[in-house]
Amino acid sequence: MRERLIVANWKMYKTAAEAQRFIQDFLPLLHDTAQAIICPPITLLSKMHSLCAGSRIVLGVQNIYWENEGAYTGEISAMQALDAGAAYCLTGHSERRQFFNESAHMVALKTTAALKAGLKPIVCVGENFTQRENGQTLQILHDDILASLKGIEATKCLTIAYEPVWAIGTGQVATPQDAEEAIAHLRACLAEIWGELAAEIPILYGGSVKPDNISALLACPNIDGALVGGASLSAAGFAAIVNTAKN
Ligand code: PGA
Repeated sequence: MRERLIVANWKMYKTAAEAQRFIQDFLPLLHDTAQAIICPPITLLSKMHSLCAGSRIVLGVQNIYWENEGAYTGEISAMQALDAGAAYCLTGHSERRQFFNESAHMVALKTTAALKAGLKPIVCVGENFTQRENGQTLQILHDDILASLKGIEATKCLTIAYEPVWAIGTGQVATPQDAEEAIAHLRACLAEIWGELAAEIPILYGGSVKPDNISALLACPNIDGALVGGASLSAAGFAAIVNTAKN
């Protein structure tokens, strides 16, 4: 049985006061054993660590640099993220690739650094609209996952997120059939390099996940959870998603 994960990506949203309010509202709404991972902006990590102490919320960061320390103005290392309370780290989010020119090679360096430090990477891959229209989705996913994991030994400490770029923040969610096809394909690509362990790696769907579409996505055999952006900013909306995933 693969682990089911629901991950919030808060991107560049929320002040300390807003995060505090969110946690106050969110925790009482969580059903019994429901759990979630939240990736807040780095400025909120320590505060979130205190706010979430004793709860079933685990924290992650949205990005790291691959060196342990050094003169890299503006960057944080995996070690620093762990030190501030993170257990997970997104790598290769499409917004990092698109706006900050992150290549698959850089994603592999960051993923390697995360694993080495003991931070669990959630490696994001996905095709853009033109690639899907041109029928290149499966090839892009194949090339991208292999390049993003290049040199990384098989490990159960890693999660993959399939995030079609055209579905992120657009309200245009992939159909469960399309998401399942892409994720089953990613699992087969992973098996090319990691063999049988591929069957044990959680693969999440991300892109306009909302309380009203999460059930249909999670009903697909290969979809092990969700990476949620916009809908994770509201305590009620995110709690509805997390509770559905638990039921
Ligand atoms: P979205 O973002 O849920 O707002 O589409 C998902 C993501 O970027 O991880």
